[in-house]
Amino acid sequence: MISGVTLCGPVLVLTVALFAQSSSPRLSPDQPRGIAEPSLDPRVESILRGMTLEEKVGQLVQYSAGQPTGPGTGRTDYDDMIARGQIGSLFNVIDPHEINKYQKIAMEKSRLHIPILFGLDVIHGFKTEFPIPLGLASTWDPSIVEKASRVAAMEASADGIRWTFSPMVDIARDARWGRMAEGAGEDPFLGSAMAAAYVRGYQGSHLDAPDSIAACAKHYVGYGAAEAGRDYSSTEISEHTLRQFYLPPFHAAVEAGTASLMSAFNSLNGVPSTANPFTLKQVLRKEWRFRGLVVSDWNSVGELIPHGIAVDGATAARKAFLAGVDMDMVSSLYHDHLQQLVSSGQATPAELDEAVRHVLRVKLALGLFDHPFVDEEAAPKALYHPDSIALAQTAAERSFVLLRNANGPDGRPLLPLATAPLNIAVIGPLGDDSSYPAGAPPGSGPRISLPAALAQRVGEGHVSRFKGVGILDGTDQEIAAAVAGAQKADLAVLALGESSDMSGEAASRAHLGLPGRQQELLEAIVHTGKPVVLILFSGRPLTVPWAFEHVPAVIAAWLPGISGGPALARTLFGEVNPSGKLVVSWPRSVGQEPLYYNALNTGRPSGDVDLTRPPADIASRYVSRYIDEQNTPQFPFGYGGSYTSFTYGTTTISAQRLSAAALNKGLVAAPNAVAAMTAEADITNTGSRPGQEVVQLYIQLRGTSVAEPVRMLKGFRTITLAPGESKKVKFELKPEAFAIWNARNEFAAEPAELKVWISPDSARGSAAEAEIMQ
Ligand code: BGC
Repeated sequence: MISGVTLCGPVLVLTVALFAQSSSPRLSPDQPRGIAEPSLDPRVESILRGMTLEEKVGQLVQYSAGQPTGPGTGRTDYDDMIARGQIGSLFNVIDPHEINKYQKIAMEKSRLHIPILFGLDVIHGFKTEFPIPLGLASTWDPSIVEKASRVAAMEASADGIRWTFSPMVDIARDARWGRMAEGAGEDPFLGSAMAAAYVRGYQGSHLDAPDSIAACAKHYVGYGAAEAGRDYSSTEISEHTLRQFYLPPFHAAVEAGTASLMSAFNSLNGVPSTANPFTLKQVLRKEWRFRGLVVSDWNSVGELIPHGIAVDGATAARKAFLAGVDMDMVSSLYHDHLQQLVSSGQATPAELDEAVRHVLRVKLALGLFDHPFVDEEAAPKALYHPDSIALAQTAAERSFVLLRNANGPDGRPLLPLATAPLNIAVIGPLGDDSSYPAGAPPGSGPRISLPAALAQRVGEGHVSRFKGVGILDGTDQEIAAAVAGAQKADLAVLALGESSDMSGEAASRAHLGLPGRQQELLEAIVHTGKPVVLILFSGRPLTVPWAFEHVPAVIAAWLPGISGGPALARTLFGEVNPSGKLVVSWPRSVGQEPLYYNALNTGRPSGDVDLTRPPADIASRYVSRYIDEQNTPQFPFGYGGSYTSFTYGTTTISAQRLSAAALNKGLVAAPNAVAAMTAEADITNTGSRPGQEVVQLYIQLRGTSVAEPVRMLKGFRTITLAPGESKKVKFELKPEAFAIWNARNEFAAEPAELKVWISPDSARGSAAEAEIMQ
């Protein structure tokens, strides 16, 4: 194979070989039985042979049950349509009885008895709510994400739902964009690890197990780069940046066997993602050899008209279909036009068959033909299992990021709280469990509020509760009552931030501070002189610089889910030591957005210039900076505190010189290539408590054909250290770690100067240096 190098140019040949190697649909021990299962194909073909044009189109049609859908259609006559084989999938049906009712029509009344695929947005748990995905990612622990998705799959499948529109694997660099809450943050390496973990958890070891559900990696692609952070806004992403940052988590989901992908709302370089043959055909089908199903986002086929690339429904349907969208979510345009498009030759029968194959393959892989119905009696028993609630608590504890822990009145860090009896005032609109764990879908289940969980430790009567203000409103009297309450207590725990509907879809914000009068409340409570712990609940980082200067202890709790109350109480009292780390750069002010650590250096980096001061001379002015804000984030990507402290020894590496040619040879063998380099460092717990530390490895490459980021995450590991204990943490870096998307958009290693950091976050640590030779 390598002999081809001299003939065709090393980079091209090796790149093609890499795709062939790493993306072919194969059944390996790491890829569970699913859509790639070859034995499905004969069954798919035999069903396909018996289908009429109308029935084929029907498989590509999806509606949201109970809601009139589609532009102007107002359609809700699903019974009749199902009986005629005109619907392939329904979603938003949650009642198992109703699911069986629809399924019975498909299985008994439709000519071919093809089961309906029932979907739902099961985003961070079905009934047992886990922390939002941004919180789950802050654990930096893919095994927790995998277990949480397993629980979600068990609960949802018991209800009859066999398809989730999750994981959202969009890279999010801009906290204004509300959907940052739904993903794993700004980094493609971490995002890829999380994407694969979600898919493994949802789909289990066999997609046809009754408790497995099909995953759907969304929103393909670039949706998170919405201009100005405004949801649904356009995106402009070069092919290089797309391949380097935005595509990898989708590729990881495909490699993990995801059954489906969802095309996004955004236009990408002028071509809407739902009609984009480059991303849907070239990258997804040709390069990655994806064999599963592509569904549009909600009416995103219909939205091709306002986007401006179609002037009528028929054109919108044709463009989406020919670009590679198999299933039309709710617009009804495939139902209305696809038969005619095929009969008139605007789409070929072969193209139609291929799309139907993708749908049938997923249904067969799920075992739906053999087991179409759900056991209605058993459904409720799968919900809220004590182990699931316990896992949700662990996940929440691991998701909290300790942002600040300055000294309290006794001259020691305020947290953890002393176990001695305390009178605690819980103040703020988010102090009750009913408000903060919410997210889609809303659940009930066993919950213990934060005040109740605190009372379990300090005793009833020692915890008082004051709302202070609402999320968006509040009166002087309410603030005064909260201040009086704080004055009577030994400690104020402030529960402030965003309600759950202030992040997620259609929840972009232009201001990232505390909403409403919450900042006023915070300052009034701090001015009482009482020690204050601020718990920030949000689906994004919030710009609260005043708090980071004046409030001794601040925890980012995200939206922590059903067990948020007990998890927080345990954290405050030190029964658990926080170990979460940020997966997004935390801005100082909204004007810094989009803000991300893996940025390019620019031609005029600010270097040693003091950015805390306005520019005073030419040297401090004509650099890449603001005249009124620092460049650095409030807290960098990867940052998170602990009740203990860790020191990092020097990073050492196993080789001072690597060869680009040898790395490229290794790429062909990916992912089984041997490590090209190992890097290690000693980490010591220098504090007095046991703790977990997320150790991170970053690299930088200089001298390459395309400018590379100042740092790129290439490894991470969580270790547990007893006080005084040291561990050597060793990372193996495979050839892939050093390959870049070069000036020709090929994935290959190049000669470069290399730096390697093993560090506690993206901004600290000292680097080992090496060289990549020709
Ligand atoms: C969202 C998707 C979601 C779909 C179905 C859309 O509005 O963008 O993320 O899966 O609705 O509920």
